[in-house]
Amino acid sequence: MKTAGKLVVLGSINADHILNLDSFPSPGETVTGNQYQVAFGGKGANQAVAAGRSGASIAFIACTGDDDTGERVCQQLQRDNIDITPISVVKGESTGVALIFVNGEGENVIGIHAGANAQLTTERVEAQRDIIAGAQALLMQLESPVESVLAAAKIAHENHTTVVLNPAPARVLSDELLALVDIITPNETEAEKLTGIRVENDDDAARAAKALHDKGIETVIITLGSRGVWASVKGEGRRVAGFRVKAIDTIAAGDTFNGALVTALLEGSSLDDAIRFAHAAAAIAVTRKGAQPSVPWRNEIDDFLSQQG
Ligand code: RIB
Repeated sequence: MKTAGKLVVLGSINADHILNLDSFPSPGETVTGNQYQVAFGGKGANQAVAAGRSGASIAFIACTGDDDTGERVCQQLQRDNIDITPISVVKGESTGVALIFVNGEGENVIGIHAGANAQLTTERVEAQRDIIAGAQALLMQLESPVESVLAAAKIAHENHTTVVLNPAPARVLSDELLALVDIITPNETEAEKLTGIRVENDDDAARAAKALHDKGIETVIITLGSRGVWASVKGEGRRVAGFRVKAIDTIAAGDTFNGALVTALLEGSSLDDAIRFAHAAAAIAVTRKGAQPSVPWRNEIDDFLSQQG
């Protein structure tokens, strides 16, 4: 029996150590930053927070270490309206860490220590079978072991739970996994990794979308940065523009887009309306610093949308 509108996110939790600097260092160079911040992040947690703050009924399958960071992350996730019952605390492990440089243009480079995220095993996924089977949608990324992503997708598929995959960070995926995905949301780099097609314009995006449809995926949404997204359903594609804002930090913009997109789809919005809602959430996020500190609440997204023509 499905719980109406219930979303399950499976993914990573990180503590982000963020250094803002004018420009990225070259190999062998040392640069001094102008601001340092530690904030909660991880693609899974960011997407869960985006869904929780934008109004979804959501549970989160993840792992933390048995450390102070893990404890504080879980307290914050609860304040963000997330059911943390499926989060495992892994003994003897540390919570994941991301080391992030942000340059003067708001671009970032990221290095990850997986820590407890690597312990999100297929056994831990199997232990959450009922919650995945009972959900309307399962949202995942690729900062968790890929065999666990596959195991969760199989459970979802068998139980008619919609599988949404944000294939980030970029990696090659098996046809077996792709065939279980209902909605995929790569950026240009990830789309190229999955299809071999370099995405530089709408025609390329349409070809990459077709390649992903050919793998068995019904809905393909390729995010194109400031150009919006290419949205393609069963081969019928069009570009949906985003909102123009002054970006100061793009960390978690994609995560915010994904969490908000699935929230709106579960509320019954059309694909175009859900994309507009997700664009608004991401537009707000890029005007703020950090990952989870930048993710907007529902009232902020609604206010933003009501101010657009
Ligand atoms: O997508 C942004 C996230 O990627 C950061 O929060 C960092 O933790 C990395 O996982």
